[in-house]
Parts: sequence; C-alpha cells; structure tokens
Amino acid sequence: MLKVYAPGRAELLGNHTDYNEGYVLSLAVNRGITATGQSRTDSKIILHALDLKETYETTLDALAPIAKPMWPNYMIGVAAQYVKAGHRIGGFELSISSDLPMGAGLSSSAALEIATALFLQKAFDISIDPLTTTKYAQAAEHQYAGVKCGLLDQISSLMSKAGCATFIDCRTYQVKNIPLPAGASFIVANSGAKHELVGGEYNERRTDCEAAAHALGAPFLRDVTSAALEAGRSKMTDRQYHRAKHVVGENERVLAAEIALKAGKLAEFGQLMFASHESSRVDFENSCEELDALVASAKKFSGAYGSRLSGGGFGGATINLVDPAKTDAFIAHLGKLSPQCLVTPAADGAHLVCA
Ligand code: GLA
Repeated sequence: MLKVYAPGRAELLGNHTDYNEGYVLSLAVNRGITATGQSRTDSKIILHALDLKETYETTLDALAPIAKPMWPNYMIGVAAQYVKAGHRIGGFELSISSDLPMGAGLSSSAALEIATALFLQKAFDISIDPLTTTKYAQAAEHQYAGVKCGLLDQISSLMSKAGCATFIDCRTYQVKNIPLPAGASFIVANSGAKHELVGGEYNERRTDCEAAAHALGAPFLRDVTSAALEAGRSKMTDRQYHRAKHVVGENERVLAAEIALKAGKLAEFGQLMFASHESSRVDFENSCEELDALVASAKKFSGAYGSRLSGGGFGGATINLVDPAKTDAFIAHLGKLSPQCLVTPAADGAHLVCA
C-alpha cells in the first residue's frame, strides 16, 4: 500500500497575482489530504472518499469530467494529464481522507490533485519534476473544474517547507522558502460563507486583468507599475482599472513584505496584509460582508499584526498574523464571527508517507 499526503495552503499576500505572472507569499497549513492505495493489473480506477462514504468507479479510457459528484474530477483530471503526456499508467484503487475543511479557502482541491499526482508517480514509477507535477494538477482544475486558476495552490501544496513562507515568482516559477521570524502565529478564520470558486466570478476577474494588461500594451499585469496604470487609466473600463489596481498593488506589497519578513518586521508585514484586504474589498471586489467583519474585528485586537482574505475570495477564510501569546485571546475575540479557527504553523509540502 502506498500512502501520500498533501496539505492545503494559506495565501499570506499576493491576491490574484499568480495568473498575472506576479508574486505570491503563502504557506502550507498543517491539515491536508491523505491518499492511500495501489496500482491494479487491469484498467479499472476505483476511488473512495472515506469521509463522504462515496465510491466512484471508471476505467482509464473513460476519464472525461463528470457532472456529479465533484470530487472524483480532481483525481481523474490529474490521471488524464499523465495519460495525455504519454506516461504509462494503469488502473488503480485510491482512498482519500481529509482533515482540511472544504470550501474554507484552504485549497482542498489542489491538495487532492497533488496527492493524486504523487500517488500516480510512485505507483507507476514516473519521474517528473515538481513544477510539471503542479502544472498537471492545474490542468485538472482548468479542464475538470472549469476554474482558470494560477499555480499558487499547487506549488504551495507541493513545495512549501516547514517554518518557512513560500515566495513564488509566477513568471519564472522560482520558489524561495523564506524562514519565518519567531513570534508569528498564523490563524485561519473560516467565515463559513460559501466559497464560489467554481464558476463565473473568478474567471471574470482573470479576463478583466488580461484586458487591462492588453490595453496598456503589456503582456501581463506583472509588467505594469502603479504609475503606468494611472497614466493609462483612460485606455480601459473603470472596472478593469480597479481590478488591475488591486493586482499591481498586490505585487508591490508582496515585494515589500518579503523584505519585511527577512528583517523580522512583523508589524510592517501585517500592515501590508490589512492594505491587501482593503484593496480586495474596494478594488477587486472579491470580499464579502463576513470576511470584512472578520478583518475589521482583527484590526481592533491589539496583538493582531494583520488580517486579510486568503485565496480566491467571495467567502472562505481570513488569514491572521497574531502575537503567539495572544492566540487564544484572538480566537475568543473573533467569537461567533468565525465558527472555525485553525492555528497553523508553516508546514511541509506534500510527501510520501509510506511505500
Ligand atoms: C485561488 C486560485 C489561485 C489564486 C488565488 C487567488 O486560490 O486557485 O490560483 O489565483 O485564488 O490569489
């Protein structure tokens, strides 16, 4: 039996920057998906979601997306990429279980894709580099879930290191594991509001960002400075301008945050988080009442350095940077606003548990 594990991720800073070839800071959380299984000698694929008590069966030559349930799509979507790339995989049986809250903005879908990818590589002795692995997982998300995501979630789930923030340059895909200073406690506060990634809003944001870059004659918003955006404002619609303003600002904030992190300046880092949320709320419009209330509450708490929505938005969770001595008091302070708080260290990325 093979057992692999892939964690969820929290986005620390750099919202919707990944598909704009920008910068992101994230970490792997200490919750994730465990996948246990083995290869088969025939072409059957048997998948079990242990928590849901559901089983889905198909065969290697029938890997098209399915309407319902959703969860097998993330697994067969990954298997399909290996087949498409010409890797020799056979049938397999794989059981998944999770301690990662679903729809909380912690990217359970990427964890499931990465766990499946690692399992397939081990089960069928396939050797590919980590970046290609994340791209297979991303392709599954694009083709089987219809979300035109970047690579933030998949890279964070696979390449993060314990005790470190994960800095990703989404143009070169250089990943730096930056040691976190002492005195940083991360709390994910789930708002309980629905996370509407599957569907229109996310892809619409992407289209607006691409249109804004195009209007400025830039390949991506990564190539646009705040000054260039202001100078070219009249070349785009008002909505495109506001979307672009968020992304351009986020890129600048991530670069500033990297410096603050390396200097151990948590208060400065936290201010950038608050600014990021404000920009989401006003310009990118991917926040919601529940997330705004959580961030407003964090702002009032002395000992909370920063707080912002984490991930796609439209619900899900906030990520909070808090003085470790005040962790419990902070959770009590949020009270009913967050039905579920998760204190997480920066954890290791996906790995083989046993062969
Ligand atoms: C989701 C996507 C990521 C990224 C974030 C927003 O998590 O899957 O690729 O775009 O939203 O930063």
